[in-house]
Amino acid sequence: MYKNNPIDSELMLLDRDISIPKTQKAFDATILREAVSVAVEKLSKNISNTSLRGLQLVQPSRLEELVEEYTKRTHKDAKEDISLKIFEEIIDLYVATGIPVYSTGYMGRQFSGVVPIAGLTDLLTSMMSQPSSFYESAQLPSIVEKVIANEFGSLLGWKKDTYDVVTTSGGSLANITALLTARNCKVPNFYNLHSSSEGIPAVAMSSDVHYSVKRAVGILGIGEDQIVSLPVNTKGQICMSQAESKLAEAEAKGLSVFCLVASAGTTPVGAIDLLNDLAELCKRKNYWLHVDGAHAGSFLVSDKLRGKLQGIELADSFTLDAHKTMFLPASCTLLFYKNKEAAQQTFYKKASYIFERDSNNLDGGEKSFECTKRPMIMNLWIPWVLYGREFFAQKLEELCETTKQAYYKLKLEKDFYPLHKPEANILCFRYSPENSNVIKVKDLQLAIRDIIKEDGKFFISKVEIEGETALRVVFMNHEITMTHFNELLTEIKRIGEDLVSNNKKLH
Ligand SMILES: Cc1ncc(COP(=O)(O)O)c(C=O)c1O
Repeated sequence: MYKNNPIDSELMLLDRDISIPKTQKAFDATILREAVSVAVEKLSKNISNTSLRGLQLVQPSRLEELVEEYTKRTHKDAKEDISLKIFEEIIDLYVATGIPVYSTGYMGRQFSGVVPIAGLTDLLTSMMSQPSSFYESAQLPSIVEKVIANEFGSLLGWKKDTYDVVTTSGGSLANITALLTARNCKVPNFYNLHSSSEGIPAVAMSSDVHYSVKRAVGILGIGEDQIVSLPVNTKGQICMSQAESKLAEAEAKGLSVFCLVASAGTTPVGAIDLLNDLAELCKRKNYWLHVDGAHAGSFLVSDKLRGKLQGIELADSFTLDAHKTMFLPASCTLLFYKNKEAAQQTFYKKASYIFERDSNNLDGGEKSFECTKRPMIMNLWIPWVLYGREFFAQKLEELCETTKQAYYKLKLEKDFYPLHKPEANILCFRYSPENSNVIKVKDLQLAIRDIIKEDGKFFISKVEIEGETALRVVFMNHEITMTHFNELLTEIKRIGEDLVSNNKKLH
């Protein structure tokens, strides 16, 4: 009878204990202890090795072979100690092939080595394994978000309980979220809009804006053709006089701009737009002002640097990537809304099985694309508690000061040409000796950068500014000083002189 009735035969199974497979030990707490001590030992060595090191580039095919070898290895008979040995090997491989962000030779990108306690907090949140989108599963992180929002709110001079902060996994996601809010607030009938007497909805932005903003305009159905690109001045800021005429031109063409995106720390040069002036313009024209402060929004924490952001408090929304200039693990992004009601306009859809009616605005998921979201605020809060706001401020001030010194150094150096006076910790320049006319300046910069990368002592980046290629350094490493920058210049000179004097063929 049982045989013919699948439901009954399944019921029979109720009486049996399922035998526990060997892999059960993967959940064992002793593995946590042992693996953590192995990992911590290796990571400690890595972060204390601050010597000049660049990236060791490996042939992708070689790496693929290695990864496949590990992936195919059979674990059927593996004992715990063997698994840990593999774990150790993989850590070594990961470290060896990673960008050495703890090295003083690392001057390449906007991410940094992390404050160790924040890295450990990341482990803590991983092991807690609960999303932060709902108060029920994130009681402490939800309240921490509120308290951290208040800390920043008071730095902005915002009145308590009038604003809101949403965490997102990265600045790109914060930018699209803010643009969606802007669209819903300023063009409420967008979903039904086929044509409108008020014109085609459009977004104005700096020509140097981060690509995530342009992409967001496409994704949100506004259409990249409806981007009004505002030219920048020699400092990389939106040029105010040209902005007015570009906007008038766009309006004459039938576009109806509803949002202007400014930057606080552009990606190429770290320029900060004239936020007060832009806020005045937006108010006059009834635009939403969003500031992409992914890079320099964190200047808010410093009493010395905050002045550079004057006017950000007037923005309707702004993005701040704490995983960039606050030395925290990715991602940790804060999206600020000046008006807390606006944050509720981003998404219309409700999910009755999750959101509580009386959540007191603590169910962050209602205002966020993400359902399962890491409690990233913990990575910011714990170092904030242990070391204070001053810790972040001091490090940022030091890095900006070193960047300024590097700029003056370049101005004094023969054959080096800085392209801008730095506002933040990004500096772009060219090496262009007089006798280099045999090689195109652009090709020379690219060749220098490639050789530096291959040599593996420094890691720097490159950038295109108004069609010209330049070398780009980002002072993110917490140990970096002028000594390291001077060593980089010596290296650039040596490589550059060799390329020029031997009239090396490039590319
Ligand atoms: C100005 C700016 N905005 C946004 C982003 C994107 O941030 P994320 O990488 O956190 O998505 C970047 C990244 O470099 C950036 O420089």
